Amino acid sequence: MSNATYSLVNDATGEKISLPLVRGAMGPPGADVGKVYSKLGIFTYDPGFTSTCSCDSSITYIDGDQGILLYRGYPVDQLAQNSTFVEVAYLILHGELPSKAELAEFDHNIRLHTMINESLKRFYDGFRYDAHPMAMLTGIVGSLSAFYHDTANNKDARHREIFAHRMIAKIPTITAAAYKKYFGQPFMYPQNDLDYCSNLLYMMFAVPSEPYRVDPVAAKALDILFILHADHEQNASTSTVRLAASTGCNPYAAIAAGIAALWGPAHGGANEAVLRMLDSIDSKNNIQAFLTKVKDKTSGVRLMGFGHRVYKNFDPRAKIIREQCHKVLKHLGKENDPQMELALELERIALADDYFVERKLYPNVDFYSGIIYKALGIPVNMFTPMFAVARTVGWVAHWMEMVSDPAGLKIGRPRQVYTGAAMRDYVALDQR
Ligand code: CMC
Repeated sequence: MSNATYSLVNDATGEKISLPLVRGAMGPPGADVGKVYSKLGIFTYDPGFTSTCSCDSSITYIDGDQGILLYRGYPVDQLAQNSTFVEVAYLILHGELPSKAELAEFDHNIRLHTMINESLKRFYDGFRYDAHPMAMLTGIVGSLSAFYHDTANNKDARHREIFAHRMIAKIPTITAAAYKKYFGQPFMYPQNDLDYCSNLLYMMFAVPSEPYRVDPVAAKALDILFILHADHEQNASTSTVRLAASTGCNPYAAIAAGIAALWGPAHGGANEAVLRMLDSIDSKNNIQAFLTKVKDKTSGVRLMGFGHRVYKNFDPRAKIIREQCHKVLKHLGKENDPQMELALELERIALADDYFVERKLYPNVDFYSGIIYKALGIPVNMFTPMFAVARTVGWVAHWMEMVSDPAGLKIGRPRQVYTGAAMRDYVALDQR
């Protein structure tokens, strides 16, 4: 591979261009096709971007065949075992693990910004009581752009830093408020003596009328889940953030776009879809019938929480989450949780089934995360918002990386193969 050169040839004319290779630190290089249209008059065509790099990035590395996920070079399993979400957030944003002093300062900055403007709280009143929390998150985060004009100069490093602190600090408060809105309970102010995940649990589950003690095992489990979800290079929502940001738009608006993209069941919405799927399967006796439906392409049914565009061997996050699931259920005295048993059996049968083996479909991060959330008392429609809280770190880091690099600020503007009507003349209404 190292000395290989690549070229594109027009077979009809013999015209040829060579494609320079863009090499990264690890993984396959990218062939630079930026001049293909101007030189050969053709576009490159790759719906779904299965072979296309949209940028270069030094944040996260994935080797899908080996099941490797690195944040800034550190394996995610080592981080999940030894680090905390806030430390990982620092790492993802800054590129290096912090010193004690750097971590303390970063942690302080995040705690400083946890409250939301009192007027912003009134935005929630505009939503119906049963609005999906992801709809609220999209709207409320987008509306932050109306509150922070003071730090909206993307070219100013200090503005960027304040945006990062505000966004990461406020997303748990915004998410907890969406939960409270759903239950009609009063919003809880953040308690800044609590760590990031404990504060989120507090704002979700505490009520003003009685004391509430955060369960440290629940907070730790959430912290690990958040580490695993913090970034995943150019996934659909991160690419959406980058595409929106490439126009120079307000950063909160770009994050809101990412939240909207995350919501879909093929992406972050899968954790919610897994639980609904397990509910619908209901019993181990129905697994075979369900898998028969999944394998019938006309049914439109997929085994949710299985398969991944990049991981074709195993998803390293799924392995860790599975272990966490057992720990949390044991701690809560729910070892024999019927849904966990159903999920384990479904996984066992699917992994032995040729359909899934041939297509290299393995459990992904979302197969077990919902079971943990449910055990922690988090309702199903809040699963994807929890994912959004964690992924905010990745979105912010990618936004930072992009807008800090003047060369990265080229507007994203894909082309298309047009399949509509050929050019034709307007026909007057009375002649149609
Ligand atoms: N159940 C049944 N068949 C599947 C599944 C599945 N979950 N996933 C892929 N396939 C089949 C698909 O029908 C196709 O079969 P064939 O070759 O016969 O046409 C083959 O496997 C390749 O699938 P694909 O749709 O081309 O693969 P993709 O890389 O475009 O899709 C995916 C990746 C994650 C969207 C897909 O696997 C999927 O829909 N999984 C279920 C939803 C899910 O769990 N999403 C969470 C992803 S991880 C978290 C995140 O990204 O946020």
